[in-house]
Amino acid sequence: MKPYASSLDDMMGEAAFDVLAKAKALEKKGRSVLHFEIGEPDFDTPKEIVNAAKHALDEGFTHYVGFDGIQELKDAVCEHVNECLGYEPSTDQVIILPGVKPGIFFSMLALVNKGDEVIYPNPGFPTYLSLIRYLGAKDVPIYLNERNDFEMRADEIENKISAKTKLIIINSPHNPTGGVCSKKGLEEISAIAAERGTWILSDEIYSNMVYEGKHFSVSEVDQARERTILIDGFSKSYAMTGWRLGWLVGPKRLVERMRLLPLNALSCTSSFTQRAGIEALSNSEVKGWMKSMLDTFRKRRDTIVKGLNSIEGFKCHLPKGAFYAYPNVRKTGMKSGEISDLLLNRLGVATLPGTAFGEGGEGHLRFSYASSLEVLREAIGRMKKAFNE
Ligand SMILES: Cc1ncc(COP(=O)(O)O)c(C=O)c1O
Repeated sequence: MKPYASSLDDMMGEAAFDVLAKAKALEKKGRSVLHFEIGEPDFDTPKEIVNAAKHALDEGFTHYVGFDGIQELKDAVCEHVNECLGYEPSTDQVIILPGVKPGIFFSMLALVNKGDEVIYPNPGFPTYLSLIRYLGAKDVPIYLNERNDFEMRADEIENKISAKTKLIIINSPHNPTGGVCSKKGLEEISAIAAERGTWILSDEIYSNMVYEGKHFSVSEVDQARERTILIDGFSKSYAMTGWRLGWLVGPKRLVERMRLLPLNALSCTSSFTQRAGIEALSNSEVKGWMKSMLDTFRKRRDTIVKGLNSIEGFKCHLPKGAFYAYPNVRKTGMKSGEISDLLLNRLGVATLPGTAFGEGGEGHLRFSYASSLEVLREAIGRMKKAFNE
């Protein structure tokens, strides 16, 4: 008999951490490895944010706080949503959490029953499928590919939705493809969700990383708002992955009940980190810093996409958001896993196979371009040498 609950067998790990461990092992042996596997900005958290946390610590702001977040941060989130998305939620619709992942976890625990169906993007962030399975629900993938510009299309959802569909998960901008859902597409998905009485979970962790135009959230569609949980956070936009801070906004009828989940699991999110979050959302210097980070990512995007397109067998779409390049490598004749292993072991270039994000990722690789232009050029050089000569 297993020493643990059988439901744990349905949970899955994350390949990014496995590849990182392999890459580190190679480095320990003296090999040079260029890192494109982990999805985190290579920038330091802005000093204004760090200072706000230090100040809170010096003040002794180190005790339990409200289980759904401190009032000032919830207020700041409401203002931020108003400024960015044009509607102002009330603070009782907000829960502050240690990152976006707990937002995904608690939302799914709050909504999904055994036997329900959940529509989700494939390839997609691995946590979605892991939780669908863990909860005993049925996963209903929407396959994303170049043909549909890596958008989760309403007509495909329409084809797969059923009376059992409880939830549609949307992630725009999207990990791993860099795809962005259009306003029209999100309006169409909202109409389907409203007609079928389905919930929407919108993971918008890359909301501040859209290269052209403005981010559009499904929660901006009136019809969708009453059935949408919007999750966003600080990890990527403010280079705060290690701080663990995020938020969710949802309809009051759901949020007032689901707050019991963080209450029972966490007691509260770290108090002084929340003070840093207020600074991140309200400091004008930080806004300028974010713009320059995005400009840097845009330059890197253009460099890596051009470079990847110069490698035989690679074809890379221009990502519209996030910081991932997602080339199609089918013409190399190799499987994603094989080519990712080869790049790491032979060339010292650490990437993730598309299949780390579901079977819909076969034929692709993900490069997280959170590295300097020099590192990007060096990696392209190594790959060109191996594939073009
Ligand atoms: C789509 C997506 N959602 C959620 C997360 C996790 O965010 P956090 O670190 O805030 O928990 C990530 C991290 O890579 C992500 O790519």
